[in-house]
Amino acid sequence: MILKPFENLKIADFSNSETEFMMKKALEKVAVEFGKEYDIVIGGKAYKSDKKIKSINPSKTDEIVGYTNSATEELAELAVEKAWEAFKTWSKTPAYKRAEFLLKTADILRKKRFEFGATMIYEVGKNWVEADADFAEAVDFLEFYAREMLRYASEQPLVRIPTEKNELRYIPLGVGAIIPPWNFPLAILVGMTSAAIVTGNTVVLKPASDSTVIAAKFFEALQEAGLPDGVVNFLPGSGALAGEYLVKHPKIRFISFTGSKDVGLRINELAARPQPGQIWIKRTILEMGGKDAIIVDETADLDSAAEGIVTSAFGFQGQKCSAGSRAIIVKDVYDKLVEKVIEKAEKIKMGDVRFRENWLGPVINHGAFEKIKAYIEIGKNEGNLIFGGNTREELGGFFIEPTIFKDVDGNARIAQEEIFGPVLAIIKANDFEEALHIANSTEYGLTGALYSKSRDRIEKAKEEFHVGNLYFNRKCTGALVGVHPFGGFNMSGTDSKAGGRDYLGLFLQAKAISEKI
Ligand code: NAD
Ligand code: ALA
Repeated sequence: MILKPFENLKIADFSNSETEFMMKKALEKVAVEFGKEYDIVIGGKAYKSDKKIKSINPSKTDEIVGYTNSATEELAELAVEKAWEAFKTWSKTPAYKRAEFLLKTADILRKKRFEFGATMIYEVGKNWVEADADFAEAVDFLEFYAREMLRYASEQPLVRIPTEKNELRYIPLGVGAIIPPWNFPLAILVGMTSAAIVTGNTVVLKPASDSTVIAAKFFEALQEAGLPDGVVNFLPGSGALAGEYLVKHPKIRFISFTGSKDVGLRINELAARPQPGQIWIKRTILEMGGKDAIIVDETADLDSAAEGIVTSAFGFQGQKCSAGSRAIIVKDVYDKLVEKVIEKAEKIKMGDVRFRENWLGPVINHGAFEKIKAYIEIGKNEGNLIFGGNTREELGGFFIEPTIFKDVDGNARIAQEEIFGPVLAIIKANDFEEALHIANSTEYGLTGALYSKSRDRIEKAKEEFHVGNLYFNRKCTGALVGVHPFGGFNMSGTDSKAGGRDYLGLFLQAKAISEKI
């Protein structure tokens, strides 16, 4: 199987009137489907349950995007059983055929590009560009992992000896639980799921409760691609179902999780404890939160730094693990840069993201809204509130203004804890050395950026800025598949490097085979 080299899908240009028209049409089409119910699907068979997950539009909370059936423990048990049944044949399906399923799914997705985008706009409050970037990343994962699988399935280089014929084969692990977050509701879900299945595993996919409709639409695309029954079992349900039942289940071989630190650590703990009948050490792939910093020194281009700070802090309302929620600025340019950051923030348009002109949308749900509000109150005692700080319920959804605190201590709670909302803490440093020290002084280590023209400092940051994804003179969000393999250090996770060449290895085990000649 020969494929053309991988290329990232370009983000749509909505200034083109035809492209804009297509998104508007898609928004109309998806709105017609509001309130539709999506089933649980196990082994190819649809199931309903008494309990439904209601997915609401965070921009307009009286709109119900859809309902998903919420699985019970009995259905979770069935899903694990059916996944093992499917594993028997799927694990023996040639790698190139498994790769073909991913490519076919990518084709199906591309044809429904704006429908997927529109669903994310309504379901999680992404603006048009953020929704399309999420979509593009999902397609990239499918295309990239299909190619990667062919590489893993090819002959692996070994040292030759004259007396033996040796080979190394990568084989799948078994049945996994896939537990993605809502904030990249398509891209991350698709990346985690496709990596698991292209490597020959079968899975139980439990989407996040705030984004079950987009998850159901992806599952429909897998079905349309002809994926055999039971390879992916679609099991929307509560976090407790995932944690207490699936993660603990003795027949779950691996858990691929992306989400918050607390849940990730809990999964790590539960998975480490062998259950009666369990015959393996469960593998866990855990990607968690961030408290990412952008450092700006006195040599930097301040306009570009201000742009990077505002985009990184407030893109998708700050609800990215990669969000630049701390700006650490050296004192010589502090006041000037803070002014520029405010000027940029003033230009942000907030509102219902079904309208293209609104850049800042709502936060995901009522719980997040209350949590962020509480952090803003904490911030008022920890720094100077210089921008925003108010909630804007009158807009019809969970709207919170982009909020900026300056003169925040590096150890303050709003500089240490992941708020996951549109709140930026600006910290003053005496010099670059101190800024770097502050940047490294959290328990996380996901993304970071430095704006500087000093080659020496850039080189020093390469050595000492302890993050999994480090950027210079650009924003700290927006990793591209294949270009910026993504994953963090310390409490940010297991540094799995999604979208990189090591990623599929996490879903495989290597068998060394030796024959005397
Ligand atoms: P979350 O931890 O609340 O939920 C993530 C997933 O875990 C969901 O599917 C949820 O239903 C499930 N879950 C909840 N409780 C569980 C339990 N006890 N056991 C097992 N599963 C459980 O996170 P979220 O709010 O969906 O996502 C936001 C978080 O994800 C942020 O902390 C963000 O930084 C992080 N994130 C990290 C990355 C990364 O690559 N490092 C990417 C995106 C998001
Ligand atoms: N991969 C996403 C980003 O880099 C989280 O912003």
